[in-house]
Amino acid sequence: MAPVLEVDGLVKQYGTTRALDGVSLRIEAGEIFALLGPNGAGKTTLIGAACGLVRKTSGKVHLFGVDLDVDPITPRYRVGLVPQEINFDPFFTVRESLRIQQGYFGQARDDERIDELLAALSLTPKAEAQTRALSGGMKRRLLIAKALVHRPKLVFLDEPTAGVDVELRRDLWSYVRKLKAEGTTVVLTTHYLEEAQELADRVGVIDRGRLLLLEEKTALIQRLGQKQLVVRFGAKVASLPQGAAGTLSEDQLELHFLEHAGTQTSAQVLSALFAAGLPVADVAMQPARLEDIMLRVLKGEVGP
Ligand SMILES: Nc1ncnc2c1ncn2[C@@H]1O[C@H](COP(=O)(O)OP(=O)(O)OP(=O)(O)O)[C@@H](O)[C@H]1O
Ligand SMILES: [Mg+2]
Repeated sequence: MAPVLEVDGLVKQYGTTRALDGVSLRIEAGEIFALLGPNGAGKTTLIGAACGLVRKTSGKVHLFGVDLDVDPITPRYRVGLVPQEINFDPFFTVRESLRIQQGYFGQARDDERIDELLAALSLTPKAEAQTRALSGGMKRRLLIAKALVHRPKLVFLDEPTAGVDVELRRDLWSYVRKLKAEGTTVVLTTHYLEEAQELADRVGVIDRGRLLLLEEKTALIQRLGQKQLVVRFGAKVASLPQGAAGTLSEDQLELHFLEHAGTQTSAQVLSALFAAGLPVADVAMQPARLEDIMLRVLKGEVGP
């Protein structure tokens, strides 16, 4: 089966800015792919070019196996996009704007689908409200509902949870998992690295229009992730004993040790501390974070 999305050597030039500088990637059916990178990296441009909304300078895009240069329209009916910017007509109600969206995609009126999405996104009480009367977070929920109303097979979520409260963010995560379970492919950009860590099957890191890394999330965390051991002492410790790696805090009351493949284990550090009779008062282990890995990738400290 052709990949859901295939991008080859994609370049987008805006004046003197090269927003995409030769990006190639494939997204397979049913995966959740997180596209990560700093502001201005090219994430939104890549999504725009992949759905045919941004005119590419060069390169190839195939959506569902169809070359967008040959047929830019048909494959788009199977795509949903939650844009980063809020853009809807303020004079319709929530329900009306969802109905209109169904119409755009050439679908028969399907109130059941609309009710289902309203409920999933906690918008039911606002169904008859005018969209301009929604709060910022509610507007974002409506954007998400609009992107899904025609049951797309591929969904792009460009910063779907920016400005969304914690509770809805959690609800949305479970909804994204449900979409995946139904076989929908999801491409997500986010600045909440916790969100990518929670949801993604694969992660891509982009900076200045170039993909720096493309890897399965679990493998990436295993390869580059660093768990952190934090030990709190009951009294000042002037120096660390033999066999205990890590750094002492300035006040000499804490030890921080980053554990990664090929180094000492946290257990070995701890036993060295106990063997030396140091006054260990508290021990905490912090799991490896995608956020730390991404920062190191962007600094060029680690790579593919
Ligand atoms: N319509 C445009 N005209 C000119 N330059 C643009 C346009 N859209 C984007 N750019 C430039 O292209 C580059 C990539 O922008 P893009 O919006 O894709 O970044 P992004 O990764 O989505 O960033 P953010 O995390 O802030 O959303 C930036 O340098 C941006 O200024
Ligand atoms: Mg963007």
